[in-house]
Amino acid sequence: FLSTRIAFEFLVWMIDVCSTGRARGERVRGTDALCLLQMRTTRKVSVWPVGLVGGRRYERPVVENGKVVGWYTGWRADRPFAIDMAGFAVSLQVILSHPKAVFKRRGSQPGMQESDFLKQITTVEELEPKANNCTKVLVWHTRTEKVNLANEPKYHLDTVNIEV
Ligand SMILES: *[C@@H]1O[C@H](CO)[C@@H](O)[C@H](O)[C@H]1NC(C)=O
Repeated sequence: FLSTRIAFEFLVWMIDVCSTGRARGERVRGTDALCLLQMRTTRKVSVWPVGLVGGRRYERPVVENGKVVGWYTGWRADRPFAIDMAGFAVSLQVILSHPKAVFKRRGSQPGMQESDFLKQITTVEELEPKANNCTKVLVWHTRTEKVNLANEPKYHLDTVNIEV
């Protein structure tokens, strides 16, 4: 019962992200209408870049040959899914076929909430990259607050040039 309730809350949250551009309270301010269109093609779990997050202009899944092969992130790149909550969608079918999957609000290590959830329902190889193979930012965090870019890289720059 508990996991169903949490899955339901999570779904509502996801719908909220794409329909209003809000997530986690008010942290995601801007969402392109394309986000909604792209999410609708999600078969299982899809992923995309998020702007102004993790102390960088953006974070994104690194995609090669249409598959996620790593993460461009300013923080804890060792996470199995180094992605923000605003950067993925899960199909209802996947949620229903994993009734025990839990999105923990508490109890995960900092930054591990997304990984702890996603590893219960998918693998990195299975992820479906959206937003032109994760080369476009369609979702942003906090466009209006003071932006923190403390983790912008000086070395190991991203392999693609993305406008944020
Ligand atoms: C993503 O990459 C794959 C493999 O390189 C390619 O076939 C596909 O057309 C690309 N998709 C988009 C939307 O660019």
